[in-house]
Amino acid sequence: MIKLENVSKKFHDTVVLKNVNIEFEPEKTYAIIGSSGAGKSTLLRCINLLEKPSTGKVIVDGVDLTKDKAQLNPIREKIGMVFQNFNLFAHMSAKKNVMFALLKVKKMSQEEAEIEAVKQLTNVGLAHRLDNYPHQLSGGEKQRVAIARALAMHPKAILFDEPTSALDPEMTQEVLKVIKALNHTGMTNIIVTHEIKFAQEVADIIIFMNNAEILEVTNTKEFFEKPKTDRAKEFLSNMI
Ligand SMILES: Nc1ncnc2c1ncn2[C@@H]1O[C@H](COP(=O)(O)OP(=O)(O)OP(=O)(O)O)[C@@H](O)[C@H]1O
Ligand SMILES: [Mg+2]
Repeated sequence: MIKLENVSKKFHDTVVLKNVNIEFEPEKTYAIIGSSGAGKSTLLRCINLLEKPSTGKVIVDGVDLTKDKAQLNPIREKIGMVFQNFNLFAHMSAKKNVMFALLKVKKMSQEEAEIEAVKQLTNVGLAHRLDNYPHQLSGGEKQRVAIARALAMHPKAILFDEPTSALDPEMTQEVLKVIKALNHTGMTNIIVTHEIKFAQEVADIIIFMNNAEILEVTNTKEFFEKPKTDRAKEFLSNMI
């Protein structure tokens, strides 16, 4: 459903993505791993054109988003995004944060939006935090609101960019548990993470990036048992 064809990205003279080709299949979970600066976030952001590729195509549901600007918003509705720093609206309660796009984009009524928001927040364990504002929530709770907000749109895919790197170990576990529960529930999950153990546990497929390139796209078990490239071996031995 999501396909990148010969995608390259330069910032001025720096090549950040070099001729990336990858296809994300429906209902699978992908973990993108690799050293800092490898281009992981840039790759993720190219999928919904938060970052515009310098060359190449981004095809979602058969539409080339780099060409067909009119399709960009409808497609973005189908692709949720969860950021490292939560990106919640500070002046809105947890419930209002989740309701916002349901009202503005999905044009739901107040009642419908509220029912959906309460349902999604309950699912991530926040039924007791509906009316709290972001400053009244822990980091783990904020991230779970952000996940509930993405899920409320019933996306076909969710992109996670280091969803736990701003969290302490305990909060990390509570958020990882929520992400793990999304596995094989019908969405494509694409997770950039430094949590290698989590990647191993949750992903069907590992995408290993190094130096602006995808070096491996390998089924998870195989990647951890016998990585194909020396660079991946080295990366894993530094991690474990
Ligand atoms: N807006 C930008 N302008 C210039 N250079 C950028 C920009 N965004 C990213 N870069 C550069 O592109 C390279 C890849 O960045 P990217 O954020 O994709 O890496 P990453 O793999 O996500 O790293 P990390 O694990 O540290 O988050 C880095 O060298 C970074 O400095
Ligand atoms: Mg990054």
